[in-house]
Amino acid sequence: MPVRHLISSKVSLAPMAGITDYVLRSLIREHSQTCLLTTEMISSEALTQVKDTDIIKRDNNHSPISYQLSGHKPKMMADCAQYLQKYADMIDINMGCPVNKVVKGTDGAALMRNVELAEEIVKNIKSQISIPLSVKFRLGYTFDELNYVEYGQRMQVAGADFITIHGRTRSQMYGGKADWKKIAELKRNVDIPVFANGDIVSIETAEQCLEESQADGVAIGRGVLGDPTLIARIETYLRTGEILPPPTLEEKISGMKDYLMREVEFRGENVGIKFVRKFYPYYINGFAGASRYRGQLVLLDRIQDINKMLDEIALQSTKNMLI
Ligand SMILES: Cc1cc2nc3c(=O)[nH]c(=O)nc-3n(C[C@H](O)[C@H](O)[C@H](O)COP(=O)(O)O)c2cc1C
Repeated sequence: MPVRHLISSKVSLAPMAGITDYVLRSLIREHSQTCLLTTEMISSEALTQVKDTDIIKRDNNHSPISYQLSGHKPKMMADCAQYLQKYADMIDINMGCPVNKVVKGTDGAALMRNVELAEEIVKNIKSQISIPLSVKFRLGYTFDELNYVEYGQRMQVAGADFITIHGRTRSQMYGGKADWKKIAELKRNVDIPVFANGDIVSIETAEQCLEESQADGVAIGRGVLGDPTLIARIETYLRTGEILPPPTLEEKISGMKDYLMREVEFRGENVGIKFVRKFYPYYINGFAGASRYRGQLVLLDRIQDINKMLDEIALQSTKNMLI
């Protein structure tokens, strides 16, 4: 399928390791039937060792979906991309991950300092797959190395069909603010579609980012935490101008219960409960006593107890709001 069909909605889910798993992707898809989903990054080294891994699980309705690969060995990555084609509608290459253990191995954002290797990876993968290939990178490694325009052009020539760009440098990690205006310069200088990414957390920020970046669409990461409806609400706004409200506290709490139940089904009770703990701050917030409740929730390790406490939180928080 041509890349334009895969990004027809103008909004995509950005890949997040340990977050955009099978469960979250399924949830997002229930709200948006059209957005491009992306998996967490899949290490090509790990996939070479173990092919049958939960990280690649998908349902039929997950299309359009992109599978993101990380690594730095062109042949190994190409072999992995070829294998993933039976699941994926698009392959994405991680050229933006800033964390030390990734860049030390010349994966992720380190590729922005090694453009020849990045080109070789793109060419090798491209020659092995018949689906679109995309790249995701940042503005550069540091502010002294802002090579995103030339980098994007070279990825395009090497064979990339689509770009997602996070408007920060590697050295910024996740600090400061994403610079959407710079993305406009990349957009002017490549022919392939560009999605802008970084700090889009609402309909308003999506609109502002599209205006400043002139990008073809936006990719959303952390904004979906606690609100799996965000992508669908932005899509609705872009399509019709209608502003749908974010979930109420009650809806968030029942969303948390649903999410917990799905993760427990996917990972088993023990692991599922531990896995969702990092998401409590995104669901249980915005009312008096929220942090005390979160402190109690993380101590619970039985699903009945957690659900009981979530029910109590829903009741108490509504009471507090009425006072
Ligand atoms: C916990 C976490 C994990 C991430 N994992 C990945 C990843 O696996 N691959 C990738 O390309 N980017 C990854 N990112 C970066 C996001 O895709 C995105 O570029 C970044 O968070 C900025 O967008 P946002 O402000 O919408 O979150 C990750 C970000 C976070 C917060």
